[in-house]
Amino acid sequence: MTDSASTTKLSIVGAGSVGSSLAYASLIRGSANTIALYDVNTAKVDAEVLDLGHGSQYMRESQIIGGSDISCVAGSDIVIITAGARQKPGQSRLDLAGTNVDILGSLMPQLLEQAPNAIFMLVTNPCDVLTTAALKISGLPRNRVLSSGTVLDTSRLRWLVGRKIGISPRSVHAMMVGEHGDTEFALWSSATIGQAPLQEWTDESGISVFDQAVLDALEEEVMTSAYKVIQGKGATNYAIGVAGARIVEAILGDQKAVLPVSTLLNDYHGISDIALSVPSVVGRQGVERTLDFPMNEIEEAKLHKSADALLAVQTSLGI
Ligand code: 2OP
Repeated sequence: MTDSASTTKLSIVGAGSVGSSLAYASLIRGSANTIALYDVNTAKVDAEVLDLGHGSQYMRESQIIGGSDISCVAGSDIVIITAGARQKPGQSRLDLAGTNVDILGSLMPQLLEQAPNAIFMLVTNPCDVLTTAALKISGLPRNRVLSSGTVLDTSRLRWLVGRKIGISPRSVHAMMVGEHGDTEFALWSSATIGQAPLQEWTDESGISVFDQAVLDALEEEVMTSAYKVIQGKGATNYAIGVAGARIVEAILGDQKAVLPVSTLLNDYHGISDIALSVPSVVGRQGVERTLDFPMNEIEEAKLHKSADALLAVQTSLGI
């Protein structure tokens, strides 16, 4: 929640299902005082702003503004980019890289002109590649450009684990890290439920719950979650909406929250110049620190596999 004495502005670029859901979640949670929704499609963005505004009486004390004039994002504290092509059933996030890097190339300078002091958050996929591209386009310091990365996947993981053993997802301390995509993985070796190591968790009759096959199946289910939702309804929107709002609150509230956002790495386990998600401290300066989590050999290898996959795409696009 934001401090009501301060004035905070969040802008969301793209009034599609993701951008509109982000605005909706942020309004309901009171993530910022002013929320601006911007899109080049005037009819669509005006309709979304109206629809969101009509619910104001039942939301927190935030106001919604917006339209198709980019000046509506002026002076933002945070700008979230959701605009771009989205996955069709069967497409991977990385398949969108070329198109969405091109879109970012024209968008980023305009946004920076309107909101020179903002923290920029990429939600458009592939969000890791776009984070690196946005940094190169803008010349901003690393801490000010991040992506929602595997914050959403982490929420999926905690929900699945919690559901399996009848424990609140809030008591499951486990993270998905790496690429927000096909090479992401769970940091099982340091995961706990309450204080108890996850891998030692037993049911009431003392039988171990999380053997390797179960861990692999859970990880796979998280990794394929978006494909499943896209197959059924064409897009994912609600979960990314609340996940994005949560990151906004960590930034505007200077919470120093540990979240697996995606950020450009600098010699993190030997990885540099690639953005991917690792546990990071998120506060008013954006990504304030990446945390060096203990990883076993398998996790270390998976981290490098993720970095290699992203590097291949970056190299092919000349980023
Ligand atoms: C998601 O994971 C598609 O990246 C989007 O829901």
